[in-house]
Amino acid sequence: MSGPGAKVVALPDFTLEGKVAVVTGGSGSIGAATAAALIGQGAAVAIVGRTPKALKEVAAKLSVGGRTVLPVRADCTSEPEMQELAGEVTARLGPADILCTFAGGDGMPLPTHEETAAHWRRVTDSELTSTFATIRAFLPAMLERHSGTIVTMASSAARQAAGSSAAYAAAKAGVIALSRHLAGEYARQGIRVNCLAPSAVENERMRRWMSEEERRALGGAFPLGRLGQPEDVAAATVFLASSASSWITGLTLDISGGKVML
Ligand SMILES: NC(=O)c1ccc[n+]([C@@H]2O[C@H](COP(=O)([O-])OP(=O)(O)OC[C@H]3O[C@@H](n4cnc5c(N)ncnc54)[C@H](OP(=O)(O)O)[C@@H]3O)[C@@H](O)[C@H]2O)c1
Repeated sequence: MSGPGAKVVALPDFTLEGKVAVVTGGSGSIGAATAAALIGQGAAVAIVGRTPKALKEVAAKLSVGGRTVLPVRADCTSEPEMQELAGEVTARLGPADILCTFAGGDGMPLPTHEETAAHWRRVTDSELTSTFATIRAFLPAMLERHSGTIVTMASSAARQAAGSSAAYAAAKAGVIALSRHLAGEYARQGIRVNCLAPSAVENERMRRWMSEEERRALGGAFPLGRLGQPEDVAAATVFLASSASSWITGLTLDISGGKVML
């Protein structure tokens, strides 16, 4: 404990040794980098997505050196599949200490006057209902153990007007509200809930659609002069998952190269 006269400060620990983590969207760019960072800190990690081939490829890359990586195929918009996921993770790895709800990414621009209710429902399902269904499945065991850390995924599209669809912006704003609500609701039960709001993070899709020059130009428009990388999000997640952030809950952390300052 440091006091007014203390000269030496012991920094909190970022280790996740012995912890069990679940990363939905773990086969995607940000999810895979996050799974790698959590594994690097000692956690056993389950990665979740809908495409078995992608999961298998990421798991093969991550499980080098005897690391524990469990790929699980599941659709996060499905309540029964999330219940099954929680059961499988508990049976194979143990109860989850860390839950990262990163599945989603349906942020394609679409003028609102062309948007249909069907598209709106699909996007809010993909970004918001999936977050709810995943957390709902893991919460009871966290409550039983009086312990758990949840990191959710919003977007800078929810923080200021941007070029996504209205549905995506609204759904990600919903993720922020859901996260804050849960943080308040469960703080006394030992559960912390924090939310990430990244701006443009270079992922596979962006590399397919934009040339290197275009990406450099886009990155140059950020105050910090570059695009985000999946590792930027992974590092923030490790912080929020570890005891280093044990007095932080209900936070929305902008990972935006200085573009969003709230
Ligand atoms: N990249 C950015 O600039 C950026 C900025 C702000 C926020 N974000 C958010 O960060 C998250 C990850 O984005 P990313 O850039 O890593 O995208 P990505 O590479 O496309 O990864 C998306 C991941 O989510 C999975 N997924 C999507 N829908 C799912 C569902 N219903 N059930 C289970 N898995 C599902 C995908 O796997 P399958 O398709 O195989 O299911 C994939 O693993 C998303 O929530 C996105 O909205 C990204």
